[in-house]
Amino acid sequence: MCGIIGILGDGNVTERVIDGLRRLEYRGYDSAGIATLCDGNSLDRRRAKGKLKNLEEILENQTLDGIVGIGHTRWATHGEPTTENAHPHATEKVAVVHNGIIENFRDLREKLSAKGHQFLTETDTETIVHLITDYIDQGMSSREAAKAALSELHGAFALAIIFEGEDDLMIGARRGSPLVLGYGTNELQDKEMYLGSDAIALSHLTNRIAYLDEGDHVEITRNSVRVFDENGVVVSREIHTVNTDNGNIDKGNYNHFMMKEIYEQPTVVGQTIATLIDPLKGHVELPEMPFNLAEIKNVTIIACGTSYYAAMVAKYWMERLGRIKVDVDIASEFRYREPVMDDGGLSIFISQSGETADTLAALRYAKSQRQHILSILNVAKSSMERESDVVLHTHAGPEVGVASTKAFTCQLAILACFAIAHAKAAGKIDAEEENRLCIALSEVPARMAEVLNHDEAIQEMALEVAKARDVIYLGRGLEYPIAMEGALKLKEISYIHAEGYAAGEMKHGPIALIDKDVPIIVIAPSGRLYEKTVSNMQEVIARKGQVYFFTDIEGAKTDGEAAIATIALPMLDEFVTPILHAIPVQLLSYHVAVAKGTDVDQPRNLAKSVTVE
Ligand code: G6P
Repeated sequence: MCGIIGILGDGNVTERVIDGLRRLEYRGYDSAGIATLCDGNSLDRRRAKGKLKNLEEILENQTLDGIVGIGHTRWATHGEPTTENAHPHATEKVAVVHNGIIENFRDLREKLSAKGHQFLTETDTETIVHLITDYIDQGMSSREAAKAALSELHGAFALAIIFEGEDDLMIGARRGSPLVLGYGTNELQDKEMYLGSDAIALSHLTNRIAYLDEGDHVEITRNSVRVFDENGVVVSREIHTVNTDNGNIDKGNYNHFMMKEIYEQPTVVGQTIATLIDPLKGHVELPEMPFNLAEIKNVTIIACGTSYYAAMVAKYWMERLGRIKVDVDIASEFRYREPVMDDGGLSIFISQSGETADTLAALRYAKSQRQHILSILNVAKSSMERESDVVLHTHAGPEVGVASTKAFTCQLAILACFAIAHAKAAGKIDAEEENRLCIALSEVPARMAEVLNHDEAIQEMALEVAKARDVIYLGRGLEYPIAMEGALKLKEISYIHAEGYAAGEMKHGPIALIDKDVPIIVIAPSGRLYEKTVSNMQEVIARKGQVYFFTDIEGAKTDGEAAIATIALPMLDEFVTPILHAIPVQLLSYHVAVAKGTDVDQPRNLAKSVTVE
């Protein structure tokens, strides 16, 4: 989603603002822009529709210097992704970049228009610029004007603001959308200060970061930082040394971040499991929980997108292993349904970013219903982390590809550990069974590395699948959510229409779609439900469906011949197969997208972190 960077510099900032925007590209955007305070302390800006390279081309022909600058990547909400609507928005006196939504912008716009302000765009952001300008025109200082304007804005937003004539001032505000403050690190940068929508935006400038709290706004000069909390009281926010080394946001030898992240999975899933399973003792050690795991009567798991499919897998795990009632829901539905929740239930929120607006709102609702709040998050210090009772971190590292891969398998790893720990605490499994499941889980990273050896064969499959208009994914039990996730991945990055179905449901509708042009991806490791899924696969083959079969070595031996192509994955305990089977569906969508020539890492219209409803 939108990205912000601001630099109060010691020298020309333009190149470094652009560098920061490059680091924010992963969030998904459709236009970009920069504003600086130029010679004579006047504001100037450059903006461009589309990718950052378009902005860079403009800057080559129309250079822009300045020692104070703000930059933005915009993901359109109010108004089309045009150059006019791109940020920064500015008057002669003020320039603003903005993430999020100003809910009362229509009212403000009307009032300001009546006073003679002329609006040139369809955006809500332009209202902020005119509001601040109006207060300056009334004689307020820049600081007072910004403060007064902030008090009138409703909605969820993060802002960075610079002012004509003020080469030692930048103002930031955080309400509902994250914003971090960066401190210059070395002698050269001692006199520099930064603002960013996340620490990654500033990783080329500093690793000394303070996270603004909800409701904070900050006045920054080169020698001073004044943070005001939501009540206007001056507060201090701790400076952290963060680890966002450039290597982590580099593609390395891969053509795309997505591929790099797929290949990182054996390592990061291993790291994640190691945080909760002691291989010597063979059991799960959760951090201290602010509730008694054994006494939890029901569980609700809420998430969006790929994280929601991790929730679905967890439902199967927890219900079967821990014999506990588990509801799963999509955050955007849950939050407005106002569901009935029994006091003292456990609500689990799963989110890579920890910032997804709907998931955060659902978390707040569950909290208001006196639920225990456990979140499973990848990005540290996110909004959800602050509002949860307890957090289990996935250790996937920064995920840059918009389509989630390694965060998903790390979420599954944490959820598997949690399901084991719960079942043990509830007395539904004994120490021996716990030990067996922990060993199975510890084997996953090595088996994942073996799955990656099938990359070439999957690439070949992809050349055929890329010709399709529609693709169906089928799976049963634990593989059903993987079928859904496979279909989502394909839609997201190759723009081919795809549906994931419970294999047993196929004959109740989707079977009508099957003909020789519709590839059917069947995901079925051997085990309890294998025969049932294979029967469904035969029904597809009987109707000339083109079956691509993701199974294991046993399955490939018995039924591999029936399919057009079969991938024989390593044998593994049934409990952990979904973690392993996520990889071939990721690889398939990746190679289909590459074959189709789409933008793999930044697919059209999608955003990495969806901070609006
Ligand atoms: C966006 C991303 C998806 C992600 C979803 C939920 O739609 O493109 O990849 O699964 O948001 O994000 P979260 O950060 O809450 O896991």
